[in-house]
Amino acid sequence: MSKPSPNSPPWAETAKFAAAKEALKFVPASMSIGLGSGTTADIFISLLAEHAKKNNLQLKCAATSKKSEELARAQGLAVADLDSVAPVDLAVDGADEVDGRRRLIKGYGGASTREKIVDYLAKRLLIIADMGKKSRRLDKAVPVEFLPFAKKRVEDGLKGLGAKSVELRQNADGSPFITDNGFWLFHADFGEIPKPAKLEDAINSIEGVLENGLFAKRPADMVIFGKRDGSVKILGE
Ligand code: 5RP
Repeated sequence: MSKPSPNSPPWAETAKFAAAKEALKFVPASMSIGLGSGTTADIFISLLAEHAKKNNLQLKCAATSKKSEELARAQGLAVADLDSVAPVDLAVDGADEVDGRRRLIKGYGGASTREKIVDYLAKRLLIIADMGKKSRRLDKAVPVEFLPFAKKRVEDGLKGLGAKSVELRQNADGSPFITDNGFWLFHADFGEIPKPAKLEDAINSIEGVLENGLFAKRPADMVIFGKRDGSVKILGE
C-alpha cells in the first residue's frame, strides 16, 4: 500500500474513503480506466474491484505506477499496458494540492510522470482527495523527476526559474528515492505559483527533466473532496 501524503490531516481516512466511494458513480458498465496512485487511489482501486465483481463490469485498466498495478491485479482487475488500453475514457487519481481552477500538484507518491501521461491522455480526469488538499493557490513544493546524470544542471535550472529550495527526495536510509522509471526526484519549492501552466512548461524545458508534478495545462474535469464527516464536495462536472 502507498504511504499517506504529508498534506493529509488526521481525519483524512474517512474523507478519502468518501471521495473514492463517490467516484464509483462515474464508472459505467464498460469502459477503459486509468488507475491513479497514492492512498486515496488505493482505496478507489479496492472499491472498484469489488464493484466490478458485484456488477459484472467490463473494465480495461491502465495503472499509473507499479504499486497500483500490483494492487489492481491482486484485487482481480484486468490491467494491461497503456497502448492496448488507450483511449482511456476516465482516469481516477489523487492529488497533493488542488486550487479553485482544478489545477493540481501531484507526485508526492513518486509517480507523477506515469500519472501525467495517463491523466492527460484520459478523456475525463476525476480527482479524489480529502479536503486538506484544497487550496486557494498552488504553493506546495513541485516534484520534478530527472535523470541523475543531470542533477546539477536540473538543480541550477530550477533555481533559475525561481525555486527557493530544491531538495532531493531520499529514502529513510538517506539513499536517493528511485522512481518506477529509474529516475530521481527533486522537490522544488517556488512558494506561491502565480502562473502554474507557464512554470509546468518551463520546468520541462530544463535538460535532464523527465516530467514534473504540476498539472495545470490540463486541469481536472472534476474533483471530489471528501470531508471529515464522510460527506463530499464536488468541483467541476
Ligand atoms: C502519487 C500522487 C498521489 O495521487 C498524491 O500523492 C496523493 O496521495 P494520497 O492519496 O496518498 O494523499 O500524486 O504520485
